[in-house]
Amino acid sequence: MHGLVFLTLCWILSPKADGSCTLPPLWTGDWYDSFYGQLTFPGTSKLAGWQVTSFASVITSWTCVSEDTTNNYLLFLGDQTVDFFGMPQNVFRCVKWIKITNNSFFYYARSDIEVNANNARVKVEAVDSAVTSWSTASYCNPTSAPGPEEYHMLIKKGSESLAKQWCPVPLLGTFNYVHNDGTTESCASDSQMTACPSWTTIQFDYTKCSKTQAFSQEGSVYCVNTITEGDNYYTALYNPGVVNTVYQRFTCYVISETSSGFYVSDSPGICEAGQTSTVNATDGSGVLTLNRTRK
Ligand SMILES: *[C@@H]1O[C@H](CO)[C@@H](O)[C@H](O)[C@H]1NC(C)=O
Ligand SMILES: *[C@@H]1O[C@H](CO)[C@@H](O)[C@H](O)[C@H]1NC(C)=O
Ligand SMILES: *[C@@H]1O[C@H](CO)[C@@H](O)[C@H](O)[C@H]1NC(C)=O
Repeated sequence: MHGLVFLTLCWILSPKADGSCTLPPLWTGDWYDSFYGQLTFPGTSKLAGWQVTSFASVITSWTCVSEDTTNNYLLFLGDQTVDFFGMPQNVFRCVKWIKITNNSFFYYARSDIEVNANNARVKVEAVDSAVTSWSTASYCNPTSAPGPEEYHMLIKKGSESLAKQWCPVPLLGTFNYVHNDGTTESCASDSQMTACPSWTTIQFDYTKCSKTQAFSQEGSVYCVNTITEGDNYYTALYNPGVVNTVYQRFTCYVISETSSGFYVSDSPGICEAGQTSTVNATDGSGVLTLNRTRK
């Protein structure tokens, strides 16, 4: 009798136990991840669309196996295993999620960079059939946690315009810019970029300078999230226009406006780890130098 009461109490008092996981109900459906492209959450604990390759094995679908509801950590285990010379390996990916709106979230992958998985933040570990549960305490605490710029956006497919947020303060105005790809300067004679009048959408005037900006064919992108640290603004842009191999659905802008100048660097998808405003990102189109022409 006492034992039963005690067990019941423990069950009621314990936080959401490791070994079970329920994804946020709002996630059910199709989303765009700013790195992985389209994701599908069929509901409860499954995710399809994070494609991770390791030792020529490909993981495409995942199951959330435990969570920490205090920190918003979700620990996913790949539904497929990696074949490492005949020894099957599990692949884990822990994320910490943050809500922006019902239709937009962002997250950090709380796993170390795995060189044997194309530098994805995942943990690859030999399958031990005796182990059937995994804790966020041991799988969500990487040695080198992601920097503030390394976030991924999640935007609900079909509700993209509901994800618009104010652009970062330095971009609330109208500007001239010079674009430098490392070798060539463009747009020095005439250009215009503005966040007016919406304050949530950046428009480039391609009639003044036709050089593609923000990987947008139409020259129009939504601001959907900004994280600041020190002098840097890490802004995620969403392209509601044409998307193909040239024009990207997401672009990261790293922005800084200090006494030494006003700079923006771009990178398709998520920000590069360590990306700065004054240096061309490895996969970027270059650096913009801005001048404000109107507040
Ligand atoms: C967000 O979703 C919750 C749960 O479905 C709902 O109650 C709420 O009204 C929604 N908020 C907005 C702004 O749509
Ligand atoms: C910004 O203004 C300064 C001073 O007028 C000028 O020298 C510089 O070329 C301008 N830069 C851009 C990007 O338009
Ligand atoms: C900057 O990026 C562009 C586009 O990827 C590339 O062509 C150029 O070589 C890069 N420049 C430098 C200095 O890295």
